[in-house]
Amino acid sequence: MANPRIHKAFLACAFVSAFAAAAASAQTGNRPPTPAQTEGPYFKAGSPERRSLRQAGVAGVPLRLAGKVVDLAGKPVPGARLEFWQADGEGRYDNSGFTLRGHQFADGEGRYLLDTVLPARYLNRASHIHVKVIVGGKPPLTTQLYFAGESGNESDPLVDARLTVVLTDGPEGKAGAFDFTLNF
Ligand SMILES: [Fe+2]
Repeated sequence: MANPRIHKAFLACAFVSAFAAAAASAQTGNRPPTPAQTEGPYFKAGSPERRSLRQAGVAGVPLRLAGKVVDLAGKPVPGARLEFWQADGEGRYDNSGFTLRGHQFADGEGRYLLDTVLPARYLNRASHIHVKVIVGGKPPLTTQLYFAGESGNESDPLVDARLTVVLTDGPEGKAGAFDFTLNF
């Protein structure tokens, strides 16, 4: 999508539809912080900036994840950096390159939008996406997101209901919403 105007319009449209459907749950008031979880062994610094991690040849059901980054009062955190990394639809990480790895910055209203694929479980791990949310001068939030109804949830002790996304069937695959509440 070389034309920046079309690209901007696409993003705006994508945000509107994602958020209308997802009804992001951020509200003003006291909110519990999103629980932190282990980084795991597969994080790699230097991921490319991109909202879509989908690419030809990457296995997996398309997944669109959308939400906000907010503080404990529910106030949006514009510009927060979100790092995502995950296995593909066959449970494989790319540890030599940056497939299914990327970062993006929350927009002026704290919103993010990720187009990716639903990761498969591997070994004793349930399906999950790793996330870091980074805001300058604050301790980063490192955590993982899970998906309701996925096989493997019952046998993975790291699965946490507070980090579990309910998926719906979207036009291109699955869709879900999750808001990150930072501990400040
Ligand atoms: Fe993992």
